[in-house]
Amino acid sequence: KRKIAILTSGGDAPGMNAAVRAVVRAAIVKGCDAYAVHEGYQGNDTTLKGKITLTTLKRHRLGLVDGGDMIKKMEWDDVQDYLSIGGTVIGTARCAAFRERPGRLLAAKNMIKKGIDALVVCGGDGSLTGANMFRSEWPSLLEELVKENELTAEEIEPFAHLNIVGLVGSIDNDMHSTDITIGAVTCLHRICESIDSISSTASSHSRAFVVEVMGRHCGWLALMAGIATGADFIFIPECPPHAGENWRENMCAEIKRHRDLGKRKTIVIVCEGAIDSELQPITAKDLTDLLTERLHLDTRMTILGHVQRGGSPSSFDRILASLQGVEAVEAVLASKPDIPSPMIAMCENKIKRVDLMKAVKLTGDVAKAIGRRDFEGAMELRDPS
Ligand code: F6P
Repeated sequence: KRKIAILTSGGDAPGMNAAVRAVVRAAIVKGCDAYAVHEGYQGNDTTLKGKITLTTLKRHRLGLVDGGDMIKKMEWDDVQDYLSIGGTVIGTARCAAFRERPGRLLAAKNMIKKGIDALVVCGGDGSLTGANMFRSEWPSLLEELVKENELTAEEIEPFAHLNIVGLVGSIDNDMHSTDITIGAVTCLHRICESIDSISSTASSHSRAFVVEVMGRHCGWLALMAGIATGADFIFIPECPPHAGENWRENMCAEIKRHRDLGKRKTIVIVCEGAIDSELQPITAKDLTDLLTERLHLDTRMTILGHVQRGGSPSSFDRILASLQGVEAVEAVLASKPDIPSPMIAMCENKIKRVDLMKAVKLTGDVAKAIGRRDFEGAMELRDPS
């Protein structure tokens, strides 16, 4: 019987539970055993500090890295009611240990001890980068485990090939090669609801609001929220204002024009990773001070924070995660050593398998292009069409 494990990793995203449910149930339907790795790569240990070695790791209980009760067999009913629950019930973490080879060594050992040779990872680009690294290192990890007498040659023999499948769970919608990531639409909806609420009080008091939204280095949430709420101004990292030109004056002139036309409220949306063309951060605080000082607007700042990431998933995210979870199990069952690890994407409204390694690399290339101020290149990479 094939044994397929799922873990959620990195920042949680609404719809991750639907993905876990789909993987567990599709695996069972296909005659496999399903497992959930609790607390992501990390496990329940938050005390692990300092140099990470195989010896220090062995003393700790880490999620995938812990062989014990953190990898749990899942039955059909274990995922009952998962569709509507926000966050991730099986837990997640941003794991430093898995970024180090000893962490991945123990993870490999524990998977083999449990008889698991297929891992579905639901997370953002960092988590999928880790998953990709895990698969490419797999043969050498096994070799080292035998050399270190952690496993015998007989034990590793049936596990020569590791199946990894990536599901993109992230509110940021920053992964290349997929149109949308699990959680992004719910988060966008929550942002819009919040801005609608802010708008009514802004209108009452004729105030300006600067709203900071998440997204890290990806402006999708800010841009879409700006379109959906009719914001006056939007700041996103991919399209920074030119540091040399006086963008502050331009923004103030535009907002004054809106006010002169009779608008009683001003909404400026800023992505948390917004920058100018010299890569200097543009913060909600700076913008608030600017509107207060130059336009004498009664201006308030709202940092939406984690309220936008939590809560029940939208129907879209439940459906996306369910369809992609089933596809992930099918991808595991179809996998062969010579087929690159897939990432389950959504391209032009179709669920597709794309090359995980390429998607991870292209996502990194976008960040690098922004880092060297090649903003057009970043846009082109993000959306070649
Ligand atoms: O990647 C998802 C995300 O919510 C980002 O938008 C944000 O920058 C970050 O995670 C916040 O991370 P944490 O929850 O660890 O503070």
